[in-house]
Amino acid sequence: MNKRIALVTGGIGGLGTAHCRALRDQGRIVVATYRPGTEERARAWQEERHGEGYEIHICPLDVSDYDSCKACVERIEQELGPVDILINNAGITRDRTMKKMTREEWDAVIEVDLSGAWNITRQVFPGMLERGWGRIVNISSINAQKGQFGQVNYSAAKAGLHGFTKALAREGARKGVTVNTISPGYIDTAMTRAVPKEIMEKIIEEIPVGHIGKPEDIARTVAFLTADEADYITGANFSINGGHHMF
Ligand code: CAA
Repeated sequence: MNKRIALVTGGIGGLGTAHCRALRDQGRIVVATYRPGTEERARAWQEERHGEGYEIHICPLDVSDYDSCKACVERIEQELGPVDILINNAGITRDRTMKKMTREEWDAVIEVDLSGAWNITRQVFPGMLERGWGRIVNISSINAQKGQFGQVNYSAAKAGLHGFTKALAREGARKGVTVNTISPGYIDTAMTRAVPKEIMEKIIEEIPVGHIGKPEDIARTVAFLTADEADYITGANFSINGGHHMF
């Protein structure tokens, strides 16, 4: 069944773009979301993908806003059909040590990285249960698993995301809906490029394979977990980090 619809939150970003390509390669209809107010950038992104031979739909979405999630999914349902595959990929950082972090920086990360996954999943999960098929992949982080200096907000939100995965996996298990987590290590995107160079150099020294990863290293597992055949994998957490954190 190839005409399944996949929704990738934060789809026009570094990891999101790779997820979109991988899902299209599997024959899915793909919708990438972009933050409201960045439509021009999103259209240019869509043109670029078109130039590569990838036809991808776009939809404005603020995952931290429940009504925005509702409107986005309603629009997709009207124009294309129900969402069968959801990649909870949207995420932000507000890195700062605890002693300096503001309440706004804590809230912003929790609202996007954790509540955002709830807001959008709430729109599509009941339909997946009814239709007896669904795939949800939550993009967490190595820093949820090992903790990272200067990231109490991000590490907490991303660790919460795997708790969300495990509980939801139980609710979907008998209805054909799988829910899994991917925990990427340091991957070459705008998010990691924002880390100061000298700190990044130290981080790379800790990675056994000796370099950071590519978005495609993560997208490959997104495609694997959302495949029709992947119906016995649920509630799992896949670490893809070049050996940076093993347990
Ligand atoms: N462990 C222990 N101590 C550390 C440390 C570490 N890893 N890093 C810094 N310190 C110490 C410093 O030596 C310094 O000590 P002194 O005060 O004794 O001199 C002190 O901590 C600095 O503290 P500050 O509060 O002044 O911190 P800062 O303003 O210099 O920087 C920070 C804080 C912005 C968080 C900076 O450390 C940073 O950017 N760290 C990287 C965070 C990171 O890895 N982010 C990942 C982004 S990518 C991502 O998140 C994607 C993904 O999923 C992997």
